[in-house]
Amino acid sequence: MASIAENIAYYQDWDWSNAGAEWSHYWGGDAAMWESTIYPRIKQFLPASTIVEIGCGYGRLSRLLAQHAETQLILTDIIDTCVQACHDRFANDDRVICQRTNGQVLAGVKDHSVDLIISFYSLVDTDIDTINNYLSEFDRVLQKDGVAFIHHSNSAEYYDPQSAESNKSMQLLAAYRDVSVGARVLQLTAQQNNLVAIQQECINWDIQEVLSDCFSTIVKPDSKWMRQPIQLENSNFILEMLTAKQGQLNSHR
Ligand SMILES: C[S@@+](CC[C@H](N)C(=O)[O-])C[C@H]1O[C@@H](n2cnc3c(N)ncnc32)[C@H](O)[C@@H]1O
Repeated sequence: MASIAENIAYYQDWDWSNAGAEWSHYWGGDAAMWESTIYPRIKQFLPASTIVEIGCGYGRLSRLLAQHAETQLILTDIIDTCVQACHDRFANDDRVICQRTNGQVLAGVKDHSVDLIISFYSLVDTDIDTINNYLSEFDRVLQKDGVAFIHHSNSAEYYDPQSAESNKSMQLLAAYRDVSVGARVLQLTAQQNNLVAIQQECINWDIQEVLSDCFSTIVKPDSKWMRQPIQLENSNFILEMLTAKQGQLNSHR
């Protein structure tokens, strides 16, 4: 899966009856996912005046982000029912705006107005053209010291198109994550859009041996957060999820 049309078809057919809670099972719940994985990675950028979330789904993460948005939280998704679900969920919070996106632009978001952009578990199946379009938007909407934290594929680091036809693991990788995106190509694409990925943490997700995913923290070159970029390889990410889950189980005993 890679194109926006394929993502739309996939998530339109998704059974949203659990509002995405099924994706928190690795950690034992939304709160444990937030506390052990997301918050520690972005806490230095919080609270933030204006936050944009790309791929909000039914608001699993948005609910937690809302506690840290001082002025505005803008939620975007390619699926109408997701936008409507978030609209209903945050009907009493006038800081929250929910809008449908075409999957590559932040329409309606003002230039240089955003402090934090976050996307978690929403752009892993997104190809490099779409990432490029979003990075161009990040350059437009981020204020000088604004930051983007995005979760994307790292499969380009492993994928060999030459052997893909005959190699089963290459075919499995291509079916699992978008193979046009990896940490290095994202860094290059960020730089082409006047941005720098100051930290890239490559992680495993379902498959222990493969760092299939990456969290990139992206800033403008003249930002107060700018520093020498670092790339980390975290093969203990699955352990981080399991430890959080064990903590949840222990606390309910
Ligand atoms: C696995 S769900 C995760 C939803 C939410 N981030 C969460 O953690 O609960 C992926 C979401 O990303 C949305 N999505 C996929 N591609 C997108 C894109 N290019 N732009 C915006 N949203 C996208 C899908 O419609 C879906 O709601």
